[in-house]
Amino acid sequence: MQKIQIERTTAPKAKPADESKLGFGKIFTDHMYVMEYNPEQGWHDPKIMPYQPIVLDPSAMVFHYGQEMFEGMKAYKCADGRIRLFRPNKNIERANNSNRRLCIPEIPADDFLNAIKTLVAVDADWIPSRPGTSLYIRPFVIATDPFLGVRPSNTYKFIIILSPVGAYYESGLDPVKIWIEDDYVRAVRGGIGEAKTGGNYVASLAAQVKAHDEGYSQVLWLDGVERKYIEEVGAMNIFFKINGTVVTPMLNGSILPGVTRASCIDLCKHWGLPVEERRISVDELVEAARTGALEECWGSGTAAVISPVGALRYENEVMQIKDGGIGEFSQKLYDTVTGIQTGKVEDTLGWTVEVTPLEK
Ligand code: COI
Repeated sequence: MQKIQIERTTAPKAKPADESKLGFGKIFTDHMYVMEYNPEQGWHDPKIMPYQPIVLDPSAMVFHYGQEMFEGMKAYKCADGRIRLFRPNKNIERANNSNRRLCIPEIPADDFLNAIKTLVAVDADWIPSRPGTSLYIRPFVIATDPFLGVRPSNTYKFIIILSPVGAYYESGLDPVKIWIEDDYVRAVRGGIGEAKTGGNYVASLAAQVKAHDEGYSQVLWLDGVERKYIEEVGAMNIFFKINGTVVTPMLNGSILPGVTRASCIDLCKHWGLPVEERRISVDELVEAARTGALEECWGSGTAAVISPVGALRYENEVMQIKDGGIGEFSQKLYDTVTGIQTGKVEDTLGWTVEVTPLEK
């Protein structure tokens, strides 16, 4: 494993005074991690340095062809005073799957985990402790060759930044309203839908703007070919409880394999609840809502955690779920997942990884 050089800031910033007003992704900590790649040295020269702007050539390939990968994970200040990460190896594995799809060189998993643990340890006193808050970790890789031809870059930067966060949605745990999009599509099989990369998110913006204008906070995507089968929501995977069975779209190559999604499925199985990963058509969903078989709906994601869905709109039909309130099962999942993350619920599944703060 490579040794990380650490340069500490001499001008630490003021920490947020009111943890109830953090929101999502607006404040950044004192330090960042940077590692470089070139074909001669591979990934090399890992550093932690004061958080600062990066200088790139205007012709850097990331600006033109979007060759980049990103991840999202969180560190928690637990009730026992310890700091824990949630299933970081799943994010690292997914990051390298994305890297392969995007022709970015893979990052050695032990260097990746060490980078996260060390950066979180350096900025440990930035982790908020109010319930519902955490330190969001955003690792990303960008293509840096100064070149305008279309080909994989030869050089890259791997950067990690940290942001103390509260709820992703302004509504907090209050159920969100979701627009089922039947015009724009996000991804198709064989494309980059299962990679975590900016291109998938920019593809979602026009529909998100449309949904916002109609009073909906997120878009639920249908498959890109038949526009018939449910895929995922802008910032989360989607689950339904239909007649006592938990149902979620199966991974098919165009859906993001969420870490929280996998954890919801594991927990349902652990509790002995029937859970199905399969194709779900929007017609089946509408029918389940009409007959009352649709008992609950929620989204799962690192940023969104477990986010109850109170209403779904498809064409001109609005499906109210639980009268717009929080379902018992969504609440149980939220309490269990956040309980494990924050050390309030025993981690019998071995999902958490402890971080030891560094001496100053
Ligand atoms: C996450 O849940 O970590 C995400 O990356 C989703 C989003 C904020 C883009």
